[in-house]
Amino acid sequence: MDKKVVFSGVQPSGKLTIGNYLGAIKNWVELQDEYDCYYCIVDLHAITIPQVPKELRRSTLEVLALYMACGIDPDKSTIFIQSHVPAHTELTWVLNTISYMGQLGRMTQYKEKSRRSEENLNAGLFTYPVLMAADILLYQTDLVPVGEDQKQHLELARDLAIRFNNKYSETFKVPEPGIKDVGAKIMSLQSPEAKMSKSDADENAYILLLDDKDTIRRKIKRAVTDSLGTIAYNDEQLGLKNLIEIYSIFSGEKIPSIVNKYEGQGYGKFKEDLAEVVIDGISNIQEKYNYLMDNKDYLEKIYIKGAEKAEYQALKTLRKVYKKVGFLPR
Ligand code: AMP
Ligand code: TRP
Repeated sequence: MDKKVVFSGVQPSGKLTIGNYLGAIKNWVELQDEYDCYYCIVDLHAITIPQVPKELRRSTLEVLALYMACGIDPDKSTIFIQSHVPAHTELTWVLNTISYMGQLGRMTQYKEKSRRSEENLNAGLFTYPVLMAADILLYQTDLVPVGEDQKQHLELARDLAIRFNNKYSETFKVPEPGIKDVGAKIMSLQSPEAKMSKSDADENAYILLLDDKDTIRRKIKRAVTDSLGTIAYNDEQLGLKNLIEIYSIFSGEKIPSIVNKYEGQGYGKFKEDLAEVVIDGISNIQEKYNYLMDNKDYLEKIYIKGAEKAEYQALKTLRKVYKKVGFLPR
Protein backbone atom coordinates (compact mmCIF):
# COMPACT_ATOMS: atom_id res chain seq x y z
CA MET A 1 0.00 0.00 0.00
CA ASP A 2 1.18 3.51 -0.78
CA LYS A 3 2.26 5.65 2.15
CA LYS A 4 0.16 8.65 3.08
CA VAL A 5 1.55 12.02 2.04
CA VAL A 6 2.82 14.86 4.23
CA PHE A 7 3.54 18.36 2.91
CA SER A 8 4.87 21.40 4.73
CA GLY A 9 7.08 24.42 4.18
CA VAL A 10 8.84 27.39 5.71
CA GLN A 11 9.55 30.76 4.11
CA PRO A 12 13.20 31.67 3.61
CA SER A 13 12.69 35.15 5.00
CA GLY A 14 15.28 35.86 7.66
CA LYS A 15 16.47 33.29 10.16
CA LEU A 16 14.44 30.50 11.73
CA THR A 17 13.33 30.76 15.34
CA ILE A 18 12.79 28.05 17.91
CA GLY A 19 9.08 28.70 17.19
CA ASN A 20 9.54 27.39 13.65
CA TYR A 21 11.42 24.43 15.04
CA LEU A 22 9.09 23.47 17.89
CA GLY A 23 5.87 24.33 16.04
CA ALA A 24 6.77 22.75 12.74
CA ILE A 25 10.13 21.25 11.76
CA LYS A 26 10.63 19.11 14.86
CA ASN A 27 7.32 17.39 14.12
CA TRP A 28 8.24 16.85 10.49
CA VAL A 29 11.20 14.74 11.55
CA GLU A 30 8.95 12.30 13.40
CA LEU A 31 6.73 11.76 10.35
CA GLN A 32 9.46 10.69 7.94
CA ASP A 33 9.29 6.93 8.39
CA GLU A 34 5.56 6.57 8.31
CA TYR A 35 4.73 9.04 5.52
CA ASP A 36 5.90 10.08 2.09
CA CYS A 37 7.07 13.56 3.07
CA TYR A 38 7.57 16.70 0.97
CA TYR A 39 9.35 19.54 2.74
CA CYS A 40 9.51 22.69 0.71
CA ILE A 41 11.37 25.99 1.05
CA VAL A 42 8.68 28.40 -0.05
CA ASP A 43 10.61 31.18 -1.77
CA LEU A 44 7.61 32.22 -3.89
CA HIS A 45 5.78 33.05 -0.68
CA ALA A 46 8.77 34.97 0.68
CA ILE A 47 8.68 37.64 -2.05
CA THR A 48 5.24 38.84 -0.93
CA ILE A 49 7.27 40.97 1.44
CA PRO A 50 10.28 42.94 0.10
CA GLN A 51 13.48 40.85 -0.05
CA VAL A 52 17.06 41.66 -0.94
CA PRO A 53 17.77 39.18 -3.79
CA LYS A 54 21.24 38.25 -2.57
CA GLU A 55 19.95 37.61 0.94
CA LEU A 56 16.99 35.61 -0.32
CA ARG A 57 19.36 33.30 -2.18
CA ARG A 58 21.41 32.85 0.97
CA SER A 59 18.37 32.34 3.22
CA THR A 60 17.03 29.70 0.87
CA LEU A 61 20.20 27.67 1.22
CA GLU A 62 20.28 28.30 4.97
CA VAL A 63 16.76 26.96 5.44
CA LEU A 64 17.66 23.90 3.39
CA ALA A 65 20.71 23.30 5.60
CA LEU A 66 18.60 23.86 8.71
CA TYR A 67 15.95 21.36 7.61
CA MET A 68 18.67 18.75 7.31
CA ALA A 69 20.46 19.83 10.48
CA CYS A 70 17.16 19.41 12.35
CA GLY A 71 16.94 15.85 11.13
CA ILE A 72 15.10 15.91 7.82
CA ASP A 73 16.78 13.10 5.92
CA PRO A 74 16.97 13.57 2.13
CA ASP A 75 17.01 9.80 1.69
CA LYS A 76 13.63 9.56 3.36
CA SER A 77 11.95 12.87 2.49
CA THR A 78 11.76 15.03 -0.60
CA ILE A 79 13.38 18.39 0.14
CA PHE A 80 12.96 21.03 -2.54
CA ILE A 81 12.68 24.70 -3.40
CA GLN A 82 9.22 25.92 -4.39
CA SER A 83 10.29 28.06 -7.39
CA HIS A 84 12.04 25.00 -8.91
CA VAL A 85 8.69 23.36 -9.57
CA PRO A 86 6.63 25.65 -11.85
CA ALA A 87 3.49 23.58 -11.29
CA HIS A 88 3.03 25.48 -8.00
CA THR A 89 2.42 28.78 -9.77
CA GLU A 90 0.44 27.11 -12.53
CA LEU A 91 -2.00 25.46 -10.16
CA THR A 92 -2.24 28.71 -8.21
CA TRP A 93 -3.67 30.41 -11.27
CA VAL A 94 -6.39 27.82 -11.69
CA LEU A 95 -7.25 27.92 -7.98
CA ASN A 96 -7.37 31.73 -8.10
CA THR A 97 -10.32 31.42 -10.44
CA ILE A 98 -12.35 29.50 -7.86
CA SER A 99 -11.23 31.57 -4.82
CA TYR A 100 -13.62 34.12 -3.39
CA MET A 101 -12.28 37.62 -2.76
CA GLY A 102 -14.35 37.80 0.42
CA GLN A 103 -12.80 34.69 1.93
CA LEU A 104 -9.25 35.83 1.08
CA GLY A 105 -9.98 39.22 2.61
CA ARG A 106 -10.93 37.53 5.88
CA MET A 107 -7.58 35.79 6.34
CA THR A 108 -6.13 36.99 9.66
CA GLN A 109 -2.55 36.96 8.40
CA TYR A 110 -3.52 39.08 5.38
CA LYS A 111 -5.38 41.55 7.56
CA GLU A 112 -2.39 41.84 9.90
CA LYS A 113 0.16 42.13 7.15
CA SER A 114 -1.87 44.67 5.20
CA ARG A 115 -2.30 46.78 8.32
CA ARG A 116 1.45 46.75 8.89
CA SER A 117 2.61 47.30 5.31
CA GLU A 118 0.28 49.74 3.63
CA GLU A 119 2.93 50.93 1.21
CA ASN A 120 3.50 47.36 0.05
CA LEU A 121 -0.06 46.11 -0.21
CA ASN A 122 0.58 43.92 -3.25
CA ALA A 123 -1.76 41.38 -4.83
CA GLY A 124 0.64 38.59 -3.86
CA LEU A 125 -0.08 39.17 -0.18
CA PHE A 126 -3.76 38.74 -0.94
CA THR A 127 -3.47 35.51 -2.97
CA TYR A 128 -0.72 34.09 -0.74
CA PRO A 129 -3.04 31.43 0.77
CA VAL A 130 -4.06 30.27 -2.72
CA LEU A 131 -0.41 29.54 -3.51
CA MET A 132 -0.20 27.66 -0.23
CA ALA A 133 -3.28 25.64 -1.20
CA ALA A 134 -1.62 24.81 -4.53
CA ASP A 135 1.52 23.64 -2.70
CA ILE A 136 -0.51 21.23 -0.64
CA LEU A 137 -3.03 19.99 -3.20
CA LEU A 138 -0.45 19.25 -5.93
CA TYR A 139 0.91 16.34 -3.89
CA GLN A 140 -2.46 14.81 -2.93
CA THR A 141 -1.44 15.56 0.64
CA ASP A 142 -3.08 13.78 3.58
CA LEU A 143 -1.47 15.68 6.46
CA VAL A 144 -0.01 19.19 6.83
CA PRO A 145 2.07 19.63 10.02
CA VAL A 146 2.15 23.34 10.85
CA GLY A 147 1.90 25.78 13.74
CA GLU A 148 -1.41 27.17 14.95
CA ASP A 149 -1.11 30.37 12.88
CA GLN A 150 -1.58 28.38 9.65
CA LYS A 151 -4.90 26.80 10.62
CA GLN A 152 -7.04 29.29 8.72
CA HIS A 153 -4.92 28.93 5.57
CA LEU A 154 -5.34 25.19 5.79
CA GLU A 155 -9.10 25.57 6.04
CA LEU A 156 -8.95 27.52 2.81
CA ALA A 157 -6.90 24.78 1.13
CA ARG A 158 -9.55 22.27 2.19
CA ASP A 159 -12.36 24.50 0.92
CA LEU A 160 -10.67 24.92 -2.45
CA ALA A 161 -10.11 21.18 -2.80
CA ILE A 162 -13.76 20.47 -2.05
CA ARG A 163 -15.00 23.27 -4.31
CA PHE A 164 -12.87 22.07 -7.23
CA ASN A 165 -13.89 18.44 -6.70
CA ASN A 166 -17.56 19.43 -6.67
CA LYS A 167 -17.27 21.56 -9.76
CA TYR A 168 -15.13 19.24 -11.91
CA SER A 169 -15.31 15.79 -10.25
CA GLU A 170 -12.97 14.17 -7.72
CA THR A 171 -9.43 15.50 -8.28
CA PHE A 172 -7.81 16.54 -5.01
CA LYS A 173 -7.36 14.79 -1.71
CA VAL A 174 -8.77 16.98 1.11
CA PRO A 175 -5.83 17.52 3.52
CA GLU A 176 -5.94 17.36 7.33
CA PRO A 177 -4.09 19.79 9.60
CA GLY A 178 -1.42 18.37 11.92
CA ILE A 179 -1.28 20.87 14.78
CA LYS A 180 0.18 19.79 18.13
CA ASP A 181 -1.35 20.65 21.51
CA VAL A 182 1.89 21.94 22.97
CA GLY A 183 4.34 23.95 20.88
CA ALA A 184 1.96 24.94 18.10
CA LYS A 185 2.20 28.52 19.25
CA ILE A 186 5.46 29.57 20.85
CA MET A 187 5.02 33.11 22.12
CA SER A 188 7.24 36.18 22.00
CA LEU A 189 9.66 36.40 24.93
CA GLN A 190 8.91 40.11 25.23
CA SER A 191 5.14 40.20 24.72
CA PRO A 192 3.84 36.72 25.53
CA GLU A 193 0.38 37.47 24.14
CA ALA A 194 1.88 37.60 20.59
CA LYS A 195 3.49 34.73 18.70
CA MET A 196 7.26 34.49 18.44
CA SER A 197 8.10 35.77 14.98
CA LYS A 198 11.37 36.08 13.09
CA SER A 199 10.18 39.41 11.70
CA ASP A 200 9.78 40.97 15.16
CA ALA A 201 11.61 44.31 15.41
CA ASP A 202 12.83 43.42 18.92
CA GLU A 203 15.60 40.81 18.81
CA ASN A 204 14.93 39.86 22.41
CA ALA A 205 11.47 38.62 21.44
CA TYR A 206 12.79 35.52 19.72
CA ILE A 207 15.51 32.90 19.94
CA LEU A 208 17.03 31.92 16.64
CA LEU A 209 18.11 28.37 15.94
CA LEU A 210 21.51 29.86 15.17
CA ASP A 211 21.85 32.11 18.23
CA ASP A 212 25.05 31.50 20.22
CA LYS A 213 25.02 30.30 23.82
CA ASP A 214 25.48 33.69 25.47
CA THR A 215 22.77 35.28 23.36
CA ILE A 216 20.36 32.52 24.35
CA ARG A 217 21.21 32.94 28.04
CA ARG A 218 20.76 36.70 27.80
CA LYS A 219 17.44 36.52 25.92
CA ILE A 220 15.95 34.02 28.36
CA LYS A 221 17.14 36.03 31.34
CA ARG A 222 15.36 39.08 29.91
CA ALA A 223 12.19 37.18 29.00
CA VAL A 224 9.10 38.90 30.36
CA THR A 225 7.38 37.03 33.22
CA ASP A 226 5.14 38.55 35.90
CA SER A 227 5.18 39.94 39.39
CA LEU A 228 3.60 36.89 41.04
CA GLY A 229 7.06 35.42 41.38
CA THR A 230 6.02 31.80 41.74
CA ILE A 231 6.37 28.95 39.27
CA ALA A 232 2.99 27.77 37.92
CA TYR A 233 1.44 26.85 34.58
CA ASN A 234 -1.68 28.89 33.84
CA ASP A 235 -3.14 31.64 31.65
CA GLU A 236 -2.53 34.36 34.21
CA GLN A 237 1.21 33.83 33.85
CA LEU A 238 1.48 33.74 30.06
CA GLY A 239 5.19 34.52 29.87
CA LEU A 240 6.05 31.75 32.27
CA LYS A 241 3.60 29.36 30.62
CA ASN A 242 5.43 29.84 27.35
CA LEU A 243 8.84 29.26 28.96
CA ILE A 244 7.60 26.08 30.64
CA GLU A 245 6.33 24.78 27.30
CA ILE A 246 9.66 25.49 25.64
CA TYR A 247 11.39 23.68 28.50
CA SER A 248 9.05 20.72 28.16
CA ILE A 249 9.40 20.19 24.43
CA PHE A 250 13.16 20.56 24.38
CA SER A 251 13.75 18.32 27.40
CA GLY A 252 10.94 15.83 26.84
CA GLU A 253 9.93 16.30 30.47
CA LYS A 254 6.20 16.58 31.19
CA ILE A 255 4.81 19.98 32.26
CA PRO A 256 3.53 18.92 35.74
CA SER A 257 6.90 17.41 36.55
CA ILE A 258 8.68 20.65 35.61
CA VAL A 259 6.28 22.72 37.69
CA ASN A 260 6.83 20.35 40.60
CA LYS A 261 10.58 20.57 40.32
CA TYR A 262 10.66 24.40 40.52
CA GLU A 263 7.71 24.94 42.84
CA GLY A 264 8.46 27.42 45.58
CA GLN A 265 11.51 28.80 43.79
CA GLY A 266 11.83 32.16 42.06
CA TYR A 267 12.25 32.53 38.30
CA GLY A 268 16.04 32.96 38.32
CA LYS A 269 17.06 29.33 38.67
CA PHE A 270 14.34 28.12 36.30
CA LYS A 271 15.47 30.56 33.62
CA GLU A 272 19.11 29.55 34.05
CA ASP A 273 18.21 25.89 33.62
CA LEU A 274 15.91 26.63 30.71
CA ALA A 275 18.75 28.36 28.88
CA GLU A 276 20.88 25.22 29.24
CA VAL A 277 18.01 22.99 28.07
CA VAL A 278 17.58 25.13 24.95
CA ILE A 279 21.33 25.27 24.29
CA ASP A 280 21.48 21.52 24.68
CA GLY A 281 18.56 21.06 22.32
CA ILE A 282 20.04 23.09 19.50
CA SER A 283 23.82 22.75 19.76
CA ASN A 284 23.72 19.58 17.72
CA ILE A 285 21.63 21.32 15.06
CA GLN A 286 24.13 24.19 14.87
CA GLU A 287 27.06 21.84 14.47
CA LYS A 288 25.40 19.98 11.59
CA TYR A 289 24.28 23.25 10.06
CA ASN A 290 27.82 24.63 9.97
CA TYR A 291 29.09 21.46 8.39
CA LEU A 292 26.39 21.54 5.69
CA MET A 293 26.92 25.22 4.88
CA ASP A 294 30.57 24.36 4.18
CA ASN A 295 29.39 21.75 1.68
CA LYS A 296 27.28 23.75 -0.74
CA ASP A 297 27.85 21.30 -3.61
CA TYR A 298 26.18 18.63 -1.54
CA LEU A 299 23.23 20.93 -0.74
CA GLU A 300 22.86 21.65 -4.44
CA LYS A 301 22.64 17.94 -5.23
CA ILE A 302 19.91 17.55 -2.61
CA TYR A 303 17.67 20.30 -3.97
CA ILE A 304 18.15 19.26 -7.57
CA LYS A 305 17.16 15.69 -6.78
CA GLY A 306 14.29 16.95 -4.62
CA ALA A 307 12.89 19.16 -7.39
CA GLU A 308 12.94 16.29 -9.87
CA LYS A 309 11.00 14.03 -7.58
CA ALA A 310 8.56 16.72 -6.54
CA GLU A 311 7.99 17.83 -10.11
CA TYR A 312 7.12 14.33 -11.22
CA GLN A 313 4.32 14.09 -8.64
CA ALA A 314 3.17 17.68 -9.10
CA LEU A 315 2.81 17.31 -12.85
CA LYS A 316 0.60 14.26 -12.45
CA THR A 317 -1.91 16.37 -10.55
CA LEU A 318 -1.51 19.46 -12.74
CA ARG A 319 -2.21 17.45 -15.91
CA LYS A 320 -5.42 16.13 -14.42
CA VAL A 321 -6.47 19.64 -13.42
CA TYR A 322 -5.75 21.09 -16.86
CA LYS A 323 -7.75 18.33 -18.49
CA LYS A 324 -10.71 18.81 -16.17
CA VAL A 325 -10.94 22.56 -16.66
CA GLY A 326 -10.94 22.04 -20.44
CA PHE A 327 -7.46 23.05 -21.58
CA LEU A 328 -6.55 21.49 -24.92
CA PRO A 329 -3.49 19.26 -24.46
CA ARG A 330 -0.38 20.20 -26.42
P1 AMP B 1 6.95 30.87 8.75
O1 AMP B 1 8.07 31.35 9.58
O2 AMP B 1 5.79 31.80 8.78
O3 AMP B 1 7.35 30.46 7.36
O4 AMP B 1 6.42 29.57 9.46
C1 AMP B 1 6.89 28.27 9.20
C2 AMP B 1 6.24 27.26 10.11
O5 AMP B 1 6.57 27.51 11.47
C3 AMP B 1 4.71 27.25 10.05
O6 AMP B 1 4.25 25.92 10.16
C4 AMP B 1 4.33 28.04 11.24
O7 AMP B 1 3.04 27.71 11.72
C5 AMP B 1 5.40 27.65 12.25
N1 AMP B 1 5.62 28.70 13.23
C6 AMP B 1 6.07 29.96 13.00
N2 AMP B 1 6.14 30.66 14.14
C7 AMP B 1 5.71 29.84 15.12
C8 AMP B 1 5.58 29.97 16.55
N3 AMP B 1 5.84 31.12 17.16
N4 AMP B 1 5.13 28.90 17.24
C9 AMP B 1 4.84 27.75 16.62
N5 AMP B 1 4.96 27.55 15.30
C10 AMP B 1 5.38 28.58 14.55
N1 TRP C 1 2.37 29.93 4.82
C1 TRP C 1 3.24 29.11 5.60
C2 TRP C 1 3.87 29.94 6.73
O1 TRP C 1 4.08 31.11 6.60
C3 TRP C 1 4.33 28.47 4.80
C4 TRP C 1 3.76 27.57 3.77
C5 TRP C 1 3.67 27.83 2.42
C6 TRP C 1 3.23 26.27 3.97
N2 TRP C 1 3.12 26.74 1.79
C7 TRP C 1 2.84 25.79 2.70
C8 TRP C 1 3.03 25.49 5.10
C9 TRP C 1 2.22 24.55 2.54
C10 TRP C 1 2.43 24.24 4.94
C11 TRP C 1 2.02 23.79 3.67
O2 TRP C 1 4.17 29.40 7.73
